[in-house]
Amino acid sequence: MTVGIPLLQVRDLTVGFGGRPVVAGVSFDLGAGERVALVGASGSGKTLTTLALLGLLPADAVVTGSVRVGGTEVVGAAERELRPLRGPVTALVPQDPGTSLNPQVRVGRQVAAPLRRAGVRRSAAAARAAELLAEMRLPAGSGRRFSVQLSGGQRQRAALALALAAGPRLLVADEPTSALDATAQHGVLAVLGRATRERGAGLLLVTHDLAAAATTCDRVLVLAEGHLLADGPLREVLAGHAHPAVRALVEATAALSPPVLVGAR
Ligand SMILES: Nc1ncnc2c1ncn2[C@@H]1O[C@H](COP(=O)(O)OP(=O)(O)OP(=O)(O)O)[C@@H](O)[C@H]1O
Ligand SMILES: [Mg+2]
Repeated sequence: MTVGIPLLQVRDLTVGFGGRPVVAGVSFDLGAGERVALVGASGSGKTLTTLALLGLLPADAVVTGSVRVGGTEVVGAAERELRPLRGPVTALVPQDPGTSLNPQVRVGRQVAAPLRRAGVRRSAAAARAAELLAEMRLPAGSGRRFSVQLSGGQRQRAALALALAAGPRLLVADEPTSALDATAQHGVLAVLGRATRERGAGLLLVTHDLAAAATTCDRVLVLAEGHLLADGPLREVLAGHAHPAVRALVEATAALSPPVLVGAR
């Protein structure tokens, strides 16, 4: 990557359907190895923002502005230009992990596939896949199962292992632990934070839970009705939550899990 250009540069990103903007003029940067939370109420535009980063918006979405990943423009790019970016540069864990896992292929083999594509030999890729699944805290032997034989939370963690297997410079994870209870969520997010930190990968973590953001990320972006209301260190955003939408998020989170927020870094 060219020195001085952030890993991800989003400028005045707007996504609309039938003339109705649902993401409105969003701009932010994400540097190499930075871990950033994207938070906001349901329907605030979090998922559409992440899909725009990979050029995966539905065909009827009208998108303007600019998204540069490692210097490559994504908005308006042809599918053949985007395909090489997906996985090794930007890997997405979608909100519904069912969409990234193939029900007909054993989970371990799916996690090994990006390694095989990168030239790793079959046995080494299989061993590495098993390690990745263990790192995401899946029980031993999960790799031999099909995704339908895993619980919802296990599927989400398998999807995280699959995304990490591609060795992305930026991992985009859309509510990757929503199927877990609060305690398990924080555990998996802490593991995810460590996994990206150890690999020097950036992380954009979508959540509507500020407490979850606090365990994993240093910086937070707050979306409300498609607009970016706040962008800054988690502590500052939490302390200076003048906007009612940010205040509502903080209050909702505090009601759920006060100890985590007290310990927020
Ligand atoms: N394909 C679509 N066509 C029309 N409108 C859409 C489409 N997809 C999403 N929207 C609308 O865009 C807005 C933002 O949706 P988005 O999925 O990004 O929300 P979100 O912040 O991810 O919410 P959640 O926390 O519930 O996942 C919502 O009002 C939604 O109804
Ligand atoms: Mg969403």
